[in-house]
Amino acid sequence: MEIRNFSIIAHVDHGKSTLADRILELTQAVSERQRRDQMLDTLELERERGITIKATPMRLFYTAKSGQRYLFNLIDTPGHVDFNYEVSRALRACEGVLLVVDASQGVEAQTIQNAYLAIDNGLEVLPVINKIDLPNADVPGAIAELEEVIGIPGDTAVAVSAKTGENVEAILEGIIAHLPPPKGDPDAPLSCLIFDAMFDSYQGVISFVRVMDGTVKKGDVIRIFSTGKTFEVDKVGYFSPAPTVSDQLGPGEVGWITAAIKDIADTQIGDTITSDKNPVSAPIPGFKPAQPVVFSGLYPTDSEDYPKLREALEKLSLNDAAFSFEPETSEALGFGFRCGFLGLLHADIVQARLEREFGLGLIATAPAVIYEVERTDGSREHIQNPADLPEPDKIARILEPFVRLNVYVPEEYVGNVMGLLQERRGEMKNMVYHGRRVELRYEIPFGEILYDFHDRLKSLTRGYASMDYEPLEYREGKLVKLDILVNDEKVDALAVIVHRDKAYSLGRKIVDKMAEVIPRQMFAVPIQAAIGGKIIARATVRAFRKDVTAKCYGGDITRKRKLLEKQKKGKERMKQLGTVEVPQEAFLAVLSGD
Ligand code: GTP
Repeated sequence: MEIRNFSIIAHVDHGKSTLADRILELTQAVSERQRRDQMLDTLELERERGITIKATPMRLFYTAKSGQRYLFNLIDTPGHVDFNYEVSRALRACEGVLLVVDASQGVEAQTIQNAYLAIDNGLEVLPVINKIDLPNADVPGAIAELEEVIGIPGDTAVAVSAKTGENVEAILEGIIAHLPPPKGDPDAPLSCLIFDAMFDSYQGVISFVRVMDGTVKKGDVIRIFSTGKTFEVDKVGYFSPAPTVSDQLGPGEVGWITAAIKDIADTQIGDTITSDKNPVSAPIPGFKPAQPVVFSGLYPTDSEDYPKLREALEKLSLNDAAFSFEPETSEALGFGFRCGFLGLLHADIVQARLEREFGLGLIATAPAVIYEVERTDGSREHIQNPADLPEPDKIARILEPFVRLNVYVPEEYVGNVMGLLQERRGEMKNMVYHGRRVELRYEIPFGEILYDFHDRLKSLTRGYASMDYEPLEYREGKLVKLDILVNDEKVDALAVIVHRDKAYSLGRKIVDKMAEVIPRQMFAVPIQAAIGGKIIARATVRAFRKDVTAKCYGGDITRKRKLLEKQKKGKERMKQLGTVEVPQEAFLAVLSGD
């Protein structure tokens, strides 16, 4: 049977998951009973957040108008700016992509970024103009933007409504006509790309693979190329969408392999699986490893959970190649891990998964970028944790990472966006018009776009702006360490590095927020912000006088219960700092909105 392996790429919200659902229905991969709203989004979290986090492979069958039957492997990818690494790993398993563009929005930041990722990987692109049911849909406009901005021909574009299903079948015919079938030799030595992996406590590591050449089946002895370790294949199969066992996997096929691999370090995403008897001489050219750019400390609320946290991090990192961690100790928080993420959304998701899937209570410290410090003795080092910054008299200069930031915005919002970029120390490099859309090119400190930038950008442009960024070099900045003192004790886990001009306002914001979220204690607790020993802001958590429920006496009983429940819930994520109980929120005070 002929095979087509493809992925769907799009800017966030352009309808990728909805389109995937329609395609699944048309190919009847899923029975009506199994059908849930967004069936490719398997993780519970994704359903809640409405974004696709993990790339999910699916096997579908389609009988073309010509009567020929085809096997399609659809690999779903996430669309958020944090998750480009997931996109590129999914693309390695495909020959082509559907590039979905919302007809009412046109080409946006991740449309361009993802299209280039696909083109750079040598994939064929089939444009899909979606949401033609919307009254403000502009199909010719979207096609013109694709041609002009990305430079791909629009004549193969298919206009559809993923919502109503209109014309979606034309996509399936388009896939057959315009996306190439996989090449591969069933008799050549086995070469499989591991593009994802999961850990199952019964079966061990489940490797998600794309077979390039050769065939793999139960009982074969496979070898992991980078480590040379060998394993006997336990089962092979595909996703339909549930993992389904099959006899074998051949060239061009996408599926999974289990081989009683218990040590998760033995399967690295991007590695090649080959046959032990007849191995290939070179691995499949590697993935670009994703580099974590944001670091935050994760500590168990209950210090006895430290080993459990380590195990959970190991399992999670197998499934998430972009996530890194190493042990760290904090005077205030005890034993924990310094974890690296691709962005704040990624950090959020990892933390939520640790809590949900592994039942851990966690305290996370404020995420920060990596700084580079040049000491007065000439030595240089990278600082992942602001608390590790040397004493001010030992610092010659501090450098911070810069990014090249592109913002795409309708003309009428350009003024607003430029104001925001200026406030964030951005430097304009260029401004390019694409029809009614303007592309603003800036160079800006990465730390300045980390926290609330995206939200502010969206709210200043009524949701119309989109952005992407890529790293530049480190540049010197007037940076200082802001220390936070709770009850006159410096708390290492709360230190942040900030630009000197913003230190006062940020210090004020942090202490106020902390004073607001730290519950009252038996005594008044001063919260202070300081730079090099000099106090620049102060707030006080007032002493606790009476029972919090006292004011409810004779009042509404449900309100009283709610208050108690709220207190109880707060308890789960508290950390004792000396004599003061500090909730999770206080550690993230730096992130709180203006
Ligand atoms: P991520 O998974 O977060 O990357 O988003 P996505 O690109 O998968 O978008 P999704 O499929 O979740 O769709 C985004 C929104 O657009 C949802 O509210 C859909 O209901 C809506 N939508 C998708 N396709 C259409 C369409 O053809 N017409 C209309 N009117 N709405 C659509």
